[in-house]
Amino acid sequence: MNRYPLITTLLLFSALRVTSSAADFKADVLPIFEKKCMSCHREPYKTSSGRTKKPKGKLILSTPEGIKKGGSEGDTVVAKDSAKSLIYTRVTLDKTHDDFMPPEDKADPLTADELKALKEWIDGGAETGDWKGTKFDAEGKKI
Ligand code: HEC
Repeated sequence: MNRYPLITTLLLFSALRVTSSAADFKADVLPIFEKKCMSCHREPYKTSSGRTKKPKGKLILSTPEGIKKGGSEGDTVVAKDSAKSLIYTRVTLDKTHDDFMPPEDKADPLTADELKALKEWIDGGAETGDWKGTKFDAEGKKI
């Protein structure tokens, strides 16, 4: 039998708290990017009329490499520093600001829970795990 049940319980609880407070990329962050960002920030693709659509601001959020590389301004994701990460600062601006993401009326602003998950993910190191990227069909539906 364990001689220190209280200490063991406390340790177990603190361990659980540590794991549950860090946002999980695939479960918590990727769905935000897929739903609210990738319509404009994904790999170049051809529309049905044959035009090539390029990622806005040269920023691709649909692949791990794209997230690491960032957009034309750089510093898209600065691991462990959400305050320096454009991907976070631009979703937390005033909604009427020109730089606010997603642009007004194009996708819903991030909810408080989504902002929290995004911040935690960046401050926790911004790892993308075994995610290989998200692909879309010609209609823009996720495959
Ligand atoms: C309707 C299209 C659209 C959507 C949706 C959208 N963006 Fe953008 N985004 C743009 C355009 C256009 C630019 C380039 C002009 C600018 O910098 O504002 C841009 C630029 C950016 C930049 C700066 C890139 C650089 O280095 O210049 C970041 C960061 C960014 N977006 C993040 C996001 C995030 C995060 C989301 C989802 C929450 C998102 N965007 C959703 C259109 C979009």
